[in-house]
Amino acid sequence: MICDQLNDGYDLVEPQAPAMLESLRAFGYNIQTAIADLIDNSISAGAKNVWLLFYWDGSESYVSIMDDGKGMTEEELVNAMRLGSRNPLDEREPNDLGRFGLGLKTASFSQCRRLTVCTKTVNQNSVTRRWDLDYVSQTREWRLLRSAALNSEDRLSCLDKVQSGTVVLWEGMDRLVGETKTDDSKTHKRFLEIIEDVENHLAMVFHRFLGRKNNLQIWINDRLVKPWDPFLTNEKATQWLPEENLYFREDKVVIQPYVLPHHSKVDQLTYEQAAGANGWNAQQGFYVYRNQRMLVAGDWLGLGLQRDEHCKLARIQVDLPNSMDSDWSIDVKKSRARPPAFLREDFKRIAKLTRGRATDIYRYRGKVIARKSSASYLFTWLKKVKHGKVFYVINPDHPLVKEALNIPIEYREVIKALLRLIEETVPVQQIWLDSAESLDKQSQPFEGEPSREMIEVMSQVYKALIKSGLSIIEARKRLTTMEPFQYFEELVNRLGE
Ligand SMILES: Nc1ncnc2c1ncn2[C@@H]1O[C@H](COP(=O)(O)OP(=O)(O)OP(=O)(O)O)[C@@H](O)[C@H]1O
Ligand SMILES: [Mg+2]
Repeated sequence: MICDQLNDGYDLVEPQAPAMLESLRAFGYNIQTAIADLIDNSISAGAKNVWLLFYWDGSESYVSIMDDGKGMTEEELVNAMRLGSRNPLDEREPNDLGRFGLGLKTASFSQCRRLTVCTKTVNQNSVTRRWDLDYVSQTREWRLLRSAALNSEDRLSCLDKVQSGTVVLWEGMDRLVGETKTDDSKTHKRFLEIIEDVENHLAMVFHRFLGRKNNLQIWINDRLVKPWDPFLTNEKATQWLPEENLYFREDKVVIQPYVLPHHSKVDQLTYEQAAGANGWNAQQGFYVYRNQRMLVAGDWLGLGLQRDEHCKLARIQVDLPNSMDSDWSIDVKKSRARPPAFLREDFKRIAKLTRGRATDIYRYRGKVIARKSSASYLFTWLKKVKHGKVFYVINPDHPLVKEALNIPIEYREVIKALLRLIEETVPVQQIWLDSAESLDKQSQPFEGEPSREMIEVMSQVYKALIKSGLSIIEARKRLTTMEPFQYFEELVNRLGE
């Protein structure tokens, strides 16, 4: 190899500038993903604010994205404008959102023919560089211009209001507005709709940054973007399943599964908003984050699991470090991630378990609805959340529990102590692990044919209900709202005969 080089045994084949730049426009971004890619850069530069301006003026419409990050020196700016400004194999700072050294250029060219960047560091004057696709096409050379286009300087003057920062200006937005006139109402309407799409996308992709105090604020035409939390973490009825940490090499992947509340447990607006841009069914599955930035918004990641109506409340948060980029096949647009082979089985297990829990919500709701005439469903165990911690207690309103405690006080204290002990020592972790390993092998309460044991328990509960003042018919009805007696309706109806 080296020998060939010494003998001049090679041809130097440089890319043709105009053809290369035109091809780079086809990376498959839309305006939402393109803007998110620029905001990645702002976050990596330590910005606390990002201001987006969408300015409508027919074919002269433009978009600018300004941040108050650390900015760039002239040398850094020139390198930033280079295609492939950094090697993807380089190790990055743990909180850096970049990888390929391409995003600024590919995202911008996907939307515009003129990309101007103006930037300044603290106590330095601003510097400007511009890629103009038409100029490169004419000159057929990689000529990076040293100034903004004629009459465009004003569009960069907003940088005066920050100590340091960067403005990215997109002009010649042929894909979005083309050759339209300013009074073209149809395209103007589309332009306004796009602003809304961008807002929704940013609210989702950066929700973990936007949801934290003093962290990041994004403004679109002076309106603050509010975070969209896919997991409804502030809702009491959201179930947090146990977090899992999976390790590979030095890297840690953190998985937090959630089951979102049934629509009867939250107000209608909350439920509708939680559906997300593509609707409940489409937004189930894994939400993959890299350094807190969302890459994938609800997908079963090619694990062979279908999107199912009954699983739509299952949403699973996955956190990756940027050191796993190549393992996860992260793409330049930061909109794809696939679990590596060594994690697929764990992901499948967690997915199945979460889907099972989400399906249960519908199963139990179904039972309640099917028994409109009777009181609500009665569980033996209740789930409680205190200070963010989940624990399980025995339902004190269960007729059998009430009856068991209806005894002289000296015995009652012993039974109460026993119940507390059972509640405190429920082997939650062990149950979780065992059931996760063999989801299909979990037994149901008193599974199979009605056993003598089950019949004995059933008649004890029945007696307790009669003792509490219920008629035979009422007691039978109440039993059919209790687990597991609802599966033995025939037997229930023979009680008291
Ligand atoms: N808003 C900004 N503020 C400060 N520096 C920036 C900004 N935008 C880009 N840069 C600099 O320009 C470089 C090139 O950005 P670009 O988005 O093209 O690639 P990247 O972020 O390194 O990787 P990726 O292709 O994965 O986005 C960045 O690494 C960063 O150093
Ligand atoms: Mg980038």
